[in-house]
Amino acid sequence: MTHNPSRRIFLGGSLAASAVGASGLMTSAGLQAAPAAASDVRYGPAPGVAKLNANENPFGPSPKALEAIATAVSQGGAYYAYPAAMSLLDMIAERHGITRKNISLSSGSSPILSYAALAASKKGKILGPDLFWDTTSRAPEKQGAPEIVRVPNTADLGIDLDAMYAAIDDTIGMVHVTNPNNPTGTVLDPVKLKEFCIKASKKTLVLVDEAYNELTDDPPKHSMIPLVKAGHNVIVARTFSKIYGLAGLRVGYMIASEENTQWINNYGMGGYTLNQAGLAAAIASYDDFPFLTFTKDKIIEAKGMVMDALKVNGLTALESSTNFIFVNLGDGNADAFRQAMADKGVLIRGIYRDYTNWSRVSMGRISDVQRYVDAIPEALETMYKTQNS
Ligand SMILES: Cc1ncc(COP(=O)(O)O)c(C=O)c1O
Repeated sequence: MTHNPSRRIFLGGSLAASAVGASGLMTSAGLQAAPAAASDVRYGPAPGVAKLNANENPFGPSPKALEAIATAVSQGGAYYAYPAAMSLLDMIAERHGITRKNISLSSGSSPILSYAALAASKKGKILGPDLFWDTTSRAPEKQGAPEIVRVPNTADLGIDLDAMYAAIDDTIGMVHVTNPNNPTGTVLDPVKLKEFCIKASKKTLVLVDEAYNELTDDPPKHSMIPLVKAGHNVIVARTFSKIYGLAGLRVGYMIASEENTQWINNYGMGGYTLNQAGLAAAIASYDDFPFLTFTKDKIIEAKGMVMDALKVNGLTALESSTNFIFVNLGDGNADAFRQAMADKGVLIRGIYRDYTNWSRVSMGRISDVQRYVDAIPEALETMYKTQNS
């Protein structure tokens, strides 16, 4: 093996430190090790900031992923990532009993979700609930397509599947369901969702975004992937951004029939947008069950802390099957609460659409969640002062 001193400096002895802590600088003298920064705000939250606003998982990347990233970048950074993409496709295919042709990889699930929306918009409008993660299904609107047709939620902010079904007519090109949903965090009854998907997919394409599936109590029970295999006109999106803790490494995918995969892939560059680091991390994390269990346990612990604190402060929240909680502020204003929290270095989300009293907080490091919990009483006080002034 060739000894390369500058590469050794760059990669360092500790894989974790080399992969995420150090950065290389190209100078006239060659590649040099930059001083190891304790925290680089280009790559993560600033010191002292509790970042609980984007449903990320700060327990990732797993140690195995970090090791794989270092290997992949040093051996493969100069090469296109085709073999790694094929390897990940094979792992996903094997788990679900499907073939490579049923899977579209993308750089995070957002691109492939957008391609699905763009493709479907050529056939008709997109139908969704009033409150869901609609970022990608709004993509066609930017190109002049009609806005998403929104179906009112149930009284408890759930997705009203009966009303959704009733709203499907021949102007609809795709129904978009996010399960568990974001920002509510709630999961649909799997039997009812399955019945809905079977019925609805006889009329139009059904997209089920399962970004948070692995965080539910029983992931296989809640997945609609078997419906794709059974030949229904259903497509399912998944991501490595949530339980796998790889949001910054951008790996996601869609599972669909061969025909739908080909059709949707026409709207983007598919697997060509993936990179060695992300693929290596995804491959190393996919079967890393000790890490996945650890991270899920931490999320459950954090959710327990938040739910207890909300109760103490006289607040309620929806039951969450995800890594975030949708908090009912009563007569409070979620933007004012977000600002009051931000002033204390705790980043959460503000108002969604016209749900002015609902506030979303993501789980994170236990110490960061503790900061949120500790900040609640004063943040509520500030919120009321602000909104009443
Ligand atoms: C429901 C849902 N789907 C998809 C995504 C997109 O994630 P990514 O592009 O990182 O896979 C998110 C991000 O928060 C999400 O909440």
